[in-house]
Amino acid sequence: MTLRIIVAGATGWTGSAVAKGVLDAEDMTLVGAVARSAAGQDIGTVLGRDAVGVKVSETLEDALKETCDILIDYTKPHVVKGHAITALNNGGHVVIGTSGLTADDFTEIEKLALVKGLSVFASGNYSITAALMTRFALMAAKHVADVEVIDYASAKKPDTPSGTGRELAERLSAIRKPSNAKPVNELSGAKETRGATIGAVQVHSVRMLGYLLSCEAVFGAPDERLVIRHDAGTSAAPYVAGTLHAARHVRDVKGLRRGLDQLLD
Ligand SMILES: NC(=O)c1ccc[n+]([C@@H]2O[C@H](COP(=O)([O-])OP(=O)(O)OC[C@H]3O[C@@H](n4cnc5c(N)ncnc54)[C@H](OP(=O)(O)O)[C@@H]3O)[C@@H](O)[C@H]2O)c1
Repeated sequence: MTLRIIVAGATGWTGSAVAKGVLDAEDMTLVGAVARSAAGQDIGTVLGRDAVGVKVSETLEDALKETCDILIDYTKPHVVKGHAITALNNGGHVVIGTSGLTADDFTEIEKLALVKGLSVFASGNYSITAALMTRFALMAAKHVADVEVIDYASAKKPDTPSGTGRELAERLSAIRKPSNAKPVNELSGAKETRGATIGAVQVHSVRMLGYLLSCEAVFGAPDERLVIRHDAGTSAAPYVAGTLHAARHVRDVKGLRRGLDQLLD
């Protein structure tokens, strides 16, 4: 039997590419699509294809009238947590692409997933090469103590830091050795210039015209430096394969797992 998938945010920049990917996958069936402005229209037509017999729903609750195995969410930071909880309460596993969830949000979602015996997979970045950046940075953090994260994005990006930057900082925090940098609370001057502390790592977000989405881990050692960086291109194509890979494997997860690098092998 194919995996029955609902894509929330199916008309968006990323969600539309993912919805097309689901429609093209032989082992998946798109049983629902959620987006307010295209509600009532056939998702195939909305995506510029032939009609596929699936109407866009205004709400996830409405879409969940169809039996679904997995919700894939690419909506908005203020929407995704409610969606994940609703899907879990209705028996669906969840693949989270939307950014903006905090560590506390993930704890709450994980608790519910465990209670329900369901699975949630989340990744701040579903691109395979970004997952490799995370993997290489985690390798480096075992050997080099000092690391900080810089995330670059367009001027209008609504959340900060990026999902990629937040997740990278949290993952690095779990394994890094104590930093040689003077603790922020011992500094004089404008302490905000040292960035936000996420986990145990300083994160600096640049928001500016001319940037799309980049993330780098900067490692400092005596008299040398290592920078591991990922730069996204202009289309959502890189996120599709990773998202579908996560959908194929989410049911193997117990509770919640984060980071596409963990599913690479
Ligand atoms: N993890 C990754 O690899 C990755 C990659 C790319 C993007 N992202 C993240 O994914 C999220 C979406 O990004 P995007 O650029 O694709 O956004 P977008 O183009 O603005 O698309 C958002 C989609 O969500 C729908 N939506 C918004 N509010 C909704 C609501 N209240 N209920 C139901 N649907 C709603 C929108 O349709 P309506 O407005 O018509 O409802 C639209 O279909 C962001 O958080 C972004 O940072 C993550």
